[in-house]
Amino acid sequence: MSVIVWWLVTVVLVAVHSASARVVELDWEVEYKFWWPDCKEGIVMAINGQFPGPTIDAVAGDIVIIHLTNKLSTEGVVIHWHGIRQRGTPWSDGAAGVTQCPINPGETFTYNFTVDKPGTHFYHGHYGMQRSAGLYGMMIVRSPKEKLRYDGEFNLLLSDWWHQSTHSQELALSSSPMRWIGKPQSLLINGRGQFNCSQAAYLSNEGKRQCTFRKNDQCAPETLRVRPNKVYRLRIASTTALASLNLAVEGHKLEVVEADGNYVKPFTVDDIDIYSGETYSVLLRTHSFPTKKHFISVGVRGRKPNTTQALTVLSYIDAPESARPSLPPPVTPRWDDYNRSISFSSKFFAAKGYPPPPEKSDEQLYLLNTQNLIDGHTKWAINNVSLSVTATPYIGAIRYGLNTLSYLKSPAKELVESYDITKPPVNPTTTKSSGIYKFPMGIVVDVILQNANVLKGKISEIHPWHLHGHDFWVLGYGDGKFRPGVDEKKYNLKNPPLRNTVALYPFGWTALRFVTDNPGVWFFHCHIEPHLHMGMGVVFAEGVDRIAKMDIPDEVLGCGLTRKWLMNRGRH
Ligand code: C2O
Ligand code: CU
Repeated sequence: MSVIVWWLVTVVLVAVHSASARVVELDWEVEYKFWWPDCKEGIVMAINGQFPGPTIDAVAGDIVIIHLTNKLSTEGVVIHWHGIRQRGTPWSDGAAGVTQCPINPGETFTYNFTVDKPGTHFYHGHYGMQRSAGLYGMMIVRSPKEKLRYDGEFNLLLSDWWHQSTHSQELALSSSPMRWIGKPQSLLINGRGQFNCSQAAYLSNEGKRQCTFRKNDQCAPETLRVRPNKVYRLRIASTTALASLNLAVEGHKLEVVEADGNYVKPFTVDDIDIYSGETYSVLLRTHSFPTKKHFISVGVRGRKPNTTQALTVLSYIDAPESARPSLPPPVTPRWDDYNRSISFSSKFFAAKGYPPPPEKSDEQLYLLNTQNLIDGHTKWAINNVSLSVTATPYIGAIRYGLNTLSYLKSPAKELVESYDITKPPVNPTTTKSSGIYKFPMGIVVDVILQNANVLKGKISEIHPWHLHGHDFWVLGYGDGKFRPGVDEKKYNLKNPPLRNTVALYPFGWTALRFVTDNPGVWFFHCHIEPHLHMGMGVVFAEGVDRIAKMDIPDEVLGCGLTRKWLMNRGRH
C-alpha cells in the first residue's frame, strides 16, 4: 500500500516538475569484489556487482537521483560526476572534504542534480585513491536535438590498472622517502585488458603469448560490431590514474566532434591523444567491405611506456566469428614527441554557435606547478603550497563561518617571474594548507598554469588539470615561462574550445579563462591520481557570500567541525 502511495506521489511530483524533464533514479551499492580485469585476479570497487560501474544514460534537463549505499566495511566513499557543473547543487559534486563528508560504511547518501547540458561524461570515486581502485563508469547526457548524424554509437572508457593494491599505493606515495608506484601493469578498455598475453601475438615475432578467451572471461575484450558504409560515434573517456593515452583504429580515420561535453569544429586525424579527465566523441566512417576485422589500440604517451597496448576489435558484421584482424594494431606515436602532442591540442576550436569568451579578464591567477619536499615526504605544490584537504568540508566551513580555511592570495606574477623553471627547485621545502582561493561572483578569471622542473634531473611532467563546476576556454599553450604582456597577445579570443580538463605540457604554460557564474566550492587539480594525492590541487571558493546563505543539506556535513555545529544547533 505505502509503496503504491509513494509511487503515485513520485509520479505526480515528476509530472508537476516539468512536462519533459525525466527523473533518472538509481539505487547503487559500492563494494569491493574479486575481479579479473586483466586476466589476473585482483580487487575492484564494483557498483551493484559491476565493474566498471553502470553507464548512466540521461537526456539534457533530466534530474539524476542516485541513492549511494556504502557497502565497504572500513572506509568512506563519495562519487564525483565529472563534467556536470552542479549549478544550484554544489553539495552534490562528490568531492570528499570539499563538498561533502565521505559517506560512512553502511550509510546511504542521495545525490540529486540536474544534467543541464548534453555531452560525454563519466563519474568516479573522489576519496583517497578510490578512482584507481576501479570506482568509475560512463555518464552520457543526450541532446534532445542532436545535430550530429550517426547510425550507432559505442562507449570506450579507458583506464590503467596496477597489481599493487591502492591502499599499498597510498602508503608508498606518502612514505619517506616516497616509493613511486611505477607504471601500470595493464591498460583497460571498458574495464578489460590483458596482462600476460597479446591479442595480436600471431601478427608479430615479439614472442608474446597469444590470448585465448573463454566466453565469460572478465578480461575478454568487447568487440565493436559495425555495418559497412555507416557512421559510428565513439564516446571516449579517460579515467586513468596516471597514463596519458593515444587511441587509434587500424585502417580508419577519426573525426573529432566533441571534447569534454562541448562540440568542437570537426577535424580528422589518424589517432587521438587523451589525458586523464578528458572525454571525446569521434565519428568513424566504416568501409564497404563487410567481412573485415581491425584492431583498436590504446597506448601510453608522455612517459616511457612499459605497459603494453590495450586492444579491442572493430568487427564488420559479416566477418566470421573465428576470423582475426589481418593487419597489426596501429603503433602508438613516440611517447616523448611533445610537439606532436601540442599540435594535436592546438587543433581544437569551438564549433560554430558558441559565443566567444569575454575580451578581458578581471583577475589573473598564476599557478606555479612544482615538486617539493615536506619533512622528507615528496609532494606536489602550487605556488609553494601543497594541498591538504581539511577534515571539515569546505562548503560547510564557509556556510557556517567556521575558521578552518585561510584564503590564499595570488602571489601574482612575481613568484613565476623569479623562478627558474628549468632547474630543480633551489629551496625545495614547501608548506601544506587547504589551498583555497576566493573569487567574487560575476568576474572573468584567467588562470595561467606554469610548469617547472621536478626535484631531480632535467624532467618536467605532463599534468592534465581539471576544474569542477565549470567549463573554461583554453586560450593558449606555450613553451617555457609565460611572458606577461607578450603571451596574452597570442591568446585565441575568437573561437577557443570550451573544456573542463586541459593539459599542461613539460616546461610550458597553459592559459584558460572562466566566468565566476556558479556559486560553490570547486576543486581544480591535476587529474593524475598520485599527483592529487601528493597535493597537486587548489580549491576555488566562488561567491562566498552566496554560499553563506545556501540551503545545504545536513547530510553532507556530518563530519569535522560542521558535525559539531549541527549537533549544537539541534540542542538549542
Ligand atoms: Cu575527475 Cu576532481 O575529478
Ligand atoms: Cu600532475
